[in-house]
Amino acid sequence: MIHNRQLNPYEQTQIARYARRTDFKGDATTAPIEYITGKVEFCGQVFKIDERALIPRIETEQLVDLAFKVIQKKIYKSQNSSLMIADIGTGSGAIAICLAKKLANYNQLVNMIATDISEEALTLAKINARNLLSNREPAVKFICSDLLQTIPEQSLDVIVANLPYIPTNYLKVLEDAVLKHEPHLALDGGSQGLDLIARLLNQATYHLNPRGKLLLEINHSHRLSDFHPWKKTYDLTILPDENGANRYLIASIKS
Ligand SMILES: C[S@@+](CC[C@H](N)C(=O)[O-])C[C@H]1O[C@@H](n2cnc3c(N)ncnc32)[C@H](O)[C@@H]1O
Repeated sequence: MIHNRQLNPYEQTQIARYARRTDFKGDATTAPIEYITGKVEFCGQVFKIDERALIPRIETEQLVDLAFKVIQKKIYKSQNSSLMIADIGTGSGAIAICLAKKLANYNQLVNMIATDISEEALTLAKINARNLLSNREPAVKFICSDLLQTIPEQSLDVIVANLPYIPTNYLKVLEDAVLKHEPHLALDGGSQGLDLIARLLNQATYHLNPRGKLLLEINHSHRLSDFHPWKKTYDLTILPDENGANRYLIASIKS
């Protein structure tokens, strides 16, 4: 997490001054610096960010790298047939846009969609796509959808998703910078933090092509045993983040 550091009084004054000079309207004493400056760096790209969407986190950069490697392998195996990639719960568009950047060399072979249930987040994601993507990269089509509900069946080769995964009880111990400013819709994953993830794993069995893959960010408390109900449908692996905590679930449709 990026908001653990205590700011000293000098830094607090500088931030308050910055907040007065910009069009930031919120409470600068608790707001994350990224919402005050309106900018966040993610995978080497500078995204516009505000309270319409979660601030993309450093752990998610590793999810983008994992997804890129999976997609690259699929491109080599696909013998020039095109692939459909989806980022579900796109927020600011960070994952989809950074993947599109990395996939510039495969522009003709990749189609990308990104969904969110929040129209507000999608408006911000579209601004980021306009600012950061050119016609050298695959275009990203943004769709307002409850997970995969409006996406045609058997249409996707890879799904990447950083859905809300914080267990509800844990929300109250989050720091003010998160709790008072970031959208709750982006944080609350239900009692075990698995509500959205479970729904997506169920829906994806109809929407993924044979040998399709899902790459999900999960909470550090999640274990392989939590995903027992899906082990007949998917081969499942959990990978750690750079701090050694459980962080990524890779689910491959069984052949
Ligand atoms: C943890 S945030 C991740 C945002 C972005 N992908 C990132 O990594 O920075 C989760 C996102 O999922 C979206 N979301 C929540 N429930 C959803 C649903 N039922 N269908 C689609 N998106 C949903 C939220 O609006 C939020 O943008």
